[in-house]
Amino acid sequence: MEDRGWILSLQSSIFDCRFSTWGKLMGNGIFITGTDTGVGKTLVAASLAAYLRACGYRVGVMKPVETGCTEANGMLVPEDAVRLKEASGCAEPIEKICPYRFAEPMAPSIAAERAGGKIDVDLLLASYGEISAEYDITLVEGAGGLMVPLLPSYTYADFARVLKLPLLVVAANKLGVLNHLSLTLEHATCKGLSVLGYVLNRISSETSPAAETNREVLSGLTGVPCLGELPFIETNESRKTFPLDLFELEFNMRLLERVLLQQ
Ligand SMILES: Nc1ncnc2c1ncn2[C@@H]1O[C@H](COP(=O)(O)OP(=O)(O)O)[C@@H](O)[C@H]1O
Ligand SMILES: [Mg+2]
Repeated sequence: MEDRGWILSLQSSIFDCRFSTWGKLMGNGIFITGTDTGVGKTLVAASLAAYLRACGYRVGVMKPVETGCTEANGMLVPEDAVRLKEASGCAEPIEKICPYRFAEPMAPSIAAERAGGKIDVDLLLASYGEISAEYDITLVEGAGGLMVPLLPSYTYADFARVLKLPLLVVAANKLGVLNHLSLTLEHATCKGLSVLGYVLNRISSETSPAAETNREVLSGLTGVPCLGELPFIETNESRKTFPLDLFELEFNMRLLERVLLQQ
């Protein structure tokens, strides 16, 4: 019964949104990037997807290229893409959600080259076009950070620009994030990308003076809004997505809605 309680309150709290920003989003998307690999992009994207799904939206997802895939039954399994698909309920085949899958854990351009191929950006754009046409909103997860190459001289920042998607930046809340996040935001500006906001994510159970003060320092350092400070999740199971009541509490959906409206 308790579980249903938050679902109902979630649905009623987001109900208004159906007739405002989110209702106007059909065919739109958000590009989820990060300050690094392993900072929580998939966890945040999957949680946002699950949250919007719980509110009744049709959520598309895409992980254009996934490297470091494990092999099962002779197939390369893109774990991020599978998690995004499961969390969102996106019905598209995994081959469309994640057209390029490589075994080696390397930047896409290098992994593709070493596998004897090359990423076809037009094919990725076509997949995104098909997915986003079917869903209220589509969440696209990058790989690593903005300057990771998809082609030898073509980065995820270039790709996000061509997709015309605003960014949501996931940053590991730890010592060093002031520099990592500032550089990411600065590069986004250089590339003409718009940034909806960033999320500070605790990827470690250890607290530090830096982690405790980063949010406040960043609010003076950058004009970009902080959409939330997500805590460390203890249990493995809930790391697939944040418990949605916790996500609702810590992630400022109203602010995301407002900045989307300004796009
Ligand atoms: N807030 C958190 N609490 C606990 N574990 C986390 C948290 N955020 C991320 N992780 C863990 O850190 C690892 C990297 O997260 P992931 O979302 O895969 O990062 P990315 O997509 O940026 O590479 C995963 O094992 C994930 O479960
Ligand atoms: Mg990921």
